[in-house]
Amino acid sequence: MKVSVIRRERFNAAHRLYRKDWDDARNEEVFGLCSNPSYHGHNYEFFVKVSGEIDHDTGLVYDLKKLKEIIRDNIIDKFDHRNLNLDTQEFKDLNPTAENIVKVIYDLLRPKIESEFQVSIKLYETERNFVEYPADQ
Ligand code: NI
Repeated sequence: MKVSVIRRERFNAAHRLYRKDWDDARNEEVFGLCSNPSYHGHNYEFFVKVSGEIDHDTGLVYDLKKLKEIIRDNIIDKFDHRNLNLDTQEFKDLNPTAENIVKVIYDLLRPKIESEFQVSIKLYETERNFVEYPADQ
């Protein structure tokens, strides 16, 4: 029987959603306010879910202090108070949509957590809009 432990984290970052090969009007049509050429910020909130067996000796699934440090070192230090388009390698050539951000977070964290655990990420861009990766099967 597996149990999931979940850590909630936040970072603040600016972004702009656009394609370089589209003009501003086309970008605004597709990406709305998030295509503002002057950039804008979001208070991103995300949940890292780690699922596994309860350890017989400790009664724990995963060390949450260790998870906190993995998230800080690999996500928060990299993205907090940054312009995702301009300041990060990950989004230099990748549109920083919530969909792409959640996948980048997963891809950065997955190798840091032992393979016996399942990992999934939920990312809130606004209170009402959020994404999950991997998608439910
Ligand atoms: Ni936006």
